[in-house]
This record gives sequence, C-alpha cells and structure tokens, in this order.
Amino acid sequence: VYHTPELTPTDSVPDCAIAVDVLRATSTIATVLNAGAEAVQVFSDMDQLMQLSEDWPAEKRLRAGERGGAKVEGCDLGNSPLDCTPERVTDCRLFISTTNGTRALQRVQAAPSVLAAALINRQAVVNYLLETNPETVWIVSSGWEGSYSLEDTVCAGAIVDGLLASSSLSPKELAGNDEAIAALALYRHWQDDLLGLMHHASHGQRLLRLNCHEDLKYCAKTDILEVVPRQKEPGVLVK
Ligand code: MLT
Repeated sequence: VYHTPELTPTDSVPDCAIAVDVLRATSTIATVLNAGAEAVQVFSDMDQLMQLSEDWPAEKRLRAGERGGAKVEGCDLGNSPLDCTPERVTDCRLFISTTNGTRALQRVQAAPSVLAAALINRQAVVNYLLETNPETVWIVSSGWEGSYSLEDTVCAGAIVDGLLASSSLSPKELAGNDEAIAALALYRHWQDDLLGLMHHASHGQRLLRLNCHEDLKYCAKTDILEVVPRQKEPGVLVK
C-alpha cells in the first residue's frame, strides 16, 4: 500500500496495481462504466485531454474535468459520480482529468494489470484478485497533492480485509507490511461509520464546503457495484 503516487516506486512494477481515489475519481470511474460508458480515458493534463478528445465523435464524447474539487469550465461534467446516469453516459467515452486520481492511474499504468477501486466496488475488486491471483499487488492511494488521504487508506484497508476474509491472504503474510497493517486497522475502526470518516477527512471537508454532501454519502457506500474498471491500454479503462 502506497499512500500517494509520489511514494510509489518508479523502478519496478507489480503484477497488479490498484489505484484508489474514493473522493471521487475512482468512484466516478466505477460508476460511469457501470452506467454503460464504453470506456474511460484518463489524463493528468487538461489541455491534452481537450486536444486528444477533439478527434472523437462529439455525440460519443463526454469531457470531465475537476480541479480543487470544482468542475473545470468548458467540460461537460465535473467529477461527481451522481452525474453519471445511464441516460447521459451510455456508449460514450469519458475523457477525464482530476487533481489526483487520474495522476495515480497514470503513475501505475506500466503494470500488466491496472484496476480502479473505491469503496462502492471493493468486493468486486477483491473477487477479481481472488480469480486472477496476482503474486504482487500494489494499492496506490491517490492522496491530495502528494499528501496522505484518510478515505483512500481506509479503502486500501477494506480491500486487505476482504482478502483476509476469503483466506487468500493470511495475517502472517501481512507481517512486515506496515502500511497495509495500518490501513487495515483504520478500516476496522471506521467500517461502521464510513460517512463519519469522510466528514473528518480533509478532502471530505473540502467537498462539503462545495456542497457535495450527496457525493460523500454515495462514495461512503460499500460493495454496491459489481464493476471492476481495468486498463485495456495505457490510460484507457473498461469494465
Ligand atoms: C481527485 O482526483 O483529486 C479527486 O477525485 C477530486 C474530487 O473530489 O473531484
């Protein structure tokens, strides 16, 4: 478990890398694919997003941009998963750039298997790991501009908890992985009040100031989607 993309090693790759940005990029990515979008293409750079999406048929293209929690002017969408309704997104490609989440996905895109996880699709990601059984797995928490994120760490802990519950991971194997043990303890402490945790988190507070209460409520739900967003080519995720 790495707490920010900046802490993620650049000289090696795992068999499977899981990017986590519960508030809200990976929650949005899981939701939009579940709602019928054809794919999600991620960008750290907004200008590049605008340029590359230009070639895509306009009726099949949605541009989503977020900076500092707010929607970027000129985009169709911000980064609210609640805007990703089937009416709006079916068969479209979502071109998305967010402050941290899309950067985390780009950071690990060289791994043979890259997934996007949030609390809403936690069990689906655990099931996928059980089926595919990768030897090395990194969970990369997006954080906020290089700093620690409570909600992403708790989601990493929820994934570890799911693996322990299925006995595919033994407590012994966790020994020595200080970050995973800490993430697990944090999840077990907050698991019955994940919305409360989001209210304590710095990015949760930022979103509350932007009146995104409903987003917090939605992103705090656990295991409501079966979808596993996975990378099919660098920067492009499908379900
Ligand atoms: C990010 O990538 O930093 C986030 O998803 C921010 C947000 O809540 O939109």
